[in-house]
Amino acid sequence: MTHRTGYHPLNTLKLVAQDLWVIDGPVIKFYGLPFTTRATVVRLRNGRLFVHSPTKLTEDLVSQIARLGEVRYLIAPNWVHYAYLQEWQQTFPDAESWVAPGVTKRAKSRGIWLEADAVLASKQSTPWQDEMHQMVVPGSKLHREAVFFHKATRTLILTDLIQNIEGDTVPVWMRILTRVAGISAPRGGMPPDLKLTFDKAQLRPALQVLVDWAPERVIFSHGAWFQEDGTAALKRALRRLVP
Ligand SMILES: [Fe+2]
Repeated sequence: MTHRTGYHPLNTLKLVAQDLWVIDGPVIKFYGLPFTTRATVVRLRNGRLFVHSPTKLTEDLVSQIARLGEVRYLIAPNWVHYAYLQEWQQTFPDAESWVAPGVTKRAKSRGIWLEADAVLASKQSTPWQDEMHQMVVPGSKLHREAVFFHKATRTLILTDLIQNIEGDTVPVWMRILTRVAGISAPRGGMPPDLKLTFDKAQLRPALQVLVDWAPERVIFSHGAWFQEDGTAALKRALRRLVP
């Protein structure tokens, strides 16, 4: 049985709200499982672009992005989301790379020498601090993910913390897996392998902060992101982790 292989059209800017776009990228394999990919682009008030979890670059995408503004900040938001970072660094040599804790170490363990300008933290001075909230979700030694909230558009930007896999985007055998794992659409959820690495006493209050930001929409890297009723959708996905 065939399935969609992603959120077509791929590798193109899709306007979500003023100064905010997503790019749906190609499928990437993670431990043998196919995952669709997604980047988020925020244009800061000074016109500079913040690119979260960059996906595959194509010539056409480069020219689309160049029309938006100057690519200035490349974000590798968690320890396993850096696959296309080098491609972007080479194409936009003036951009700064801000990476989650653990990214350079993990890349090195795979034989990749990643250059980073800064390591993301919950409390740090950033060029976007007036426009976005930021937190490295605490409680896991392994999965350290930086999350962002773009205040002007009330958009929460996550990476892997929530996945919402639609059945027709994956092979049949994986549909069953995603259902069992509680990460299938329309509710989605936090992948259980990732949840297991967290100390819940630290995780729960952090997730409550995300809910309290009251997002209108929630973007994440894998599956159908929550386009409306963001806060309610977030709470549904985080069931049992937030009241
Ligand atoms: Fe991921």
